[in-house]
Amino acid sequence: MFFLTTAIDYTNGSPHIGHAYEKVLADVIARYRRLRGDDAYFLTGVDQHGQKVQQTAEKEGVSPAEFVERTTKKFSALWEKLGVQYDGWAETTNDLHKDCVRKILTDLKEKGQLYKKAKKDLYSVRQEQFLTDRDRNEQGEFGPEWGEVVEIEEENWYFKLSAHADWLKNFIETTPDFIEPAFRKSEVLNALERSPGLDLCISRPKSRLRWGIEFPFDPDYVTYVWFDALINYISFAGYLADPSTGLPNFDQLWAKNDRRPVHIIGKDILVPAHGIYWPTMLHAMGFADDKIPQLLVHGWWNIRGEKMSKSIGNIVDPNELADKFGVEAVRYYLVRDIVTGKDSDFDLDRLIMLFNTELANELGNLCNRALNMSQRFTGGILHHGGPLQDEDLALQKSLVDSIAAYQAAMDDYDISKGLEALNRHVVHCNGYAERQKPWELNKNPENKDRVSTILYHFAESVVHIAVLISPVLPEITAKLAEQLNLPGLTGFQLDDLKWGILPDGHEIGKPKPVFPRIVLEEPKA
Ligand code: ME8
Ligand code: MG
Repeated sequence: MFFLTTAIDYTNGSPHIGHAYEKVLADVIARYRRLRGDDAYFLTGVDQHGQKVQQTAEKEGVSPAEFVERTTKKFSALWEKLGVQYDGWAETTNDLHKDCVRKILTDLKEKGQLYKKAKKDLYSVRQEQFLTDRDRNEQGEFGPEWGEVVEIEEENWYFKLSAHADWLKNFIETTPDFIEPAFRKSEVLNALERSPGLDLCISRPKSRLRWGIEFPFDPDYVTYVWFDALINYISFAGYLADPSTGLPNFDQLWAKNDRRPVHIIGKDILVPAHGIYWPTMLHAMGFADDKIPQLLVHGWWNIRGEKMSKSIGNIVDPNELADKFGVEAVRYYLVRDIVTGKDSDFDLDRLIMLFNTELANELGNLCNRALNMSQRFTGGILHHGGPLQDEDLALQKSLVDSIAAYQAAMDDYDISKGLEALNRHVVHCNGYAERQKPWELNKNPENKDRVSTILYHFAESVVHIAVLISPVLPEITAKLAEQLNLPGLTGFQLDDLKWGILPDGHEIGKPKPVFPRIVLEEPKA
């Protein structure tokens, strides 16, 4: 079992390419794990509570519930359009989730992990949180990201975060795979160092915020949105749930995992939410160290070096992109032009260039050679052909090397490097074609066997590449399976990939180009 989740998206806005990247990345990893033979389960969803949602709904003159329903649809519709196939869908206004949050609050209170206290503190309205000195910038001020900062005195519930700071520090230092990539570990350790004595305020008085989960033992309060949202990872995995709910069996999904679950999150929500609050919450609930999930922290898509933001007006809409360039061109770009863990600049010219060179030209050319030439030269029948030459063996070795490099990179969540490895083999095949020139050989009937051998090497390569690229381009793989007349291809796993999948005498289907070049219309003069 491989249990994968992504951050749940705030429903106070519309999905942008940052959100789309995270879901496509997770979808690619889940599909890849299935190719590896894992029984992968992918959970994602939406974060529906909190002050920002309440405020945006008010501004738009609708109830928070209505607003949330409307925004949630924008996200789920986009995931369907982009071919993001998840197994579990988390909505934090769901009663099953609310029950779980309440059970956890009650349990933590019984365990002596919560206390109520009056405190006068600075509070960021925009970020919905109390501020501490660690939130000040180098000038000692609260930067613009906090918005309006006000002093609030109120009584609230606190979670004893500080009681577990030593445990967390030790856990992070002794669990090398907790945070991926490893260079982000120091961000969490530094934050812990700066403020080890802080507890977490987990309630909001209803006088100020109504749109949240009511406290089970203090009905004047709702739950702080992060405490609520983080719990989605276990509530929708069936934690403390009755089997009649239809939720997954938690022990199978999580506790009996032979590896820890993986949460895919962006770099902005590592500290403090996922790197400090969440492992500490799980530890306080009684989760053993080997049941604390791994964090795969991805970087951000920027626009010309700048953050995407409503105020700058540079937000890229994934819906528009998919309509213009096609879903799979967008999927390909989003995982091809960024190194997992690092930031990248979103660039339309590069989207077009990468699609046109790597897919339309290189892979498209190879597919055309495998399918069209086989149709024209050997009547659509593939033959193993005559004795192998050095060039044929070199091609087969190139494929073996590419698969090994692909697998190593994909195991490491480095999708871009995995795709590069596939591309190397495709380029090798096209070089082989240029050197072998089957179109010349075919002019002399004596070369029939040699032509068959060459065409077989193209077709067999297409079969392998189609399977390996399927996590990123599932629809194109399905089309290739049809054209290769190999319906089983879409169910292949990595273990099935050995040279000689296509039997001697195999008849291919009707070829049809699957990678039309992207040509932008010239602006009319
Ligand atoms: O943080 N590039 O929601 P969110 C890449 N509800 N990823 C980006 C991005 C960008 N430009 N902008 C945002 C939240 N993201 C909380 C999560 S989880 C219990 C609660 C990523 O809608 C961001 O890093 O602000 C995060 O992982 C995800 O999109 C949702 O962001
Ligand atoms: Mg955000």
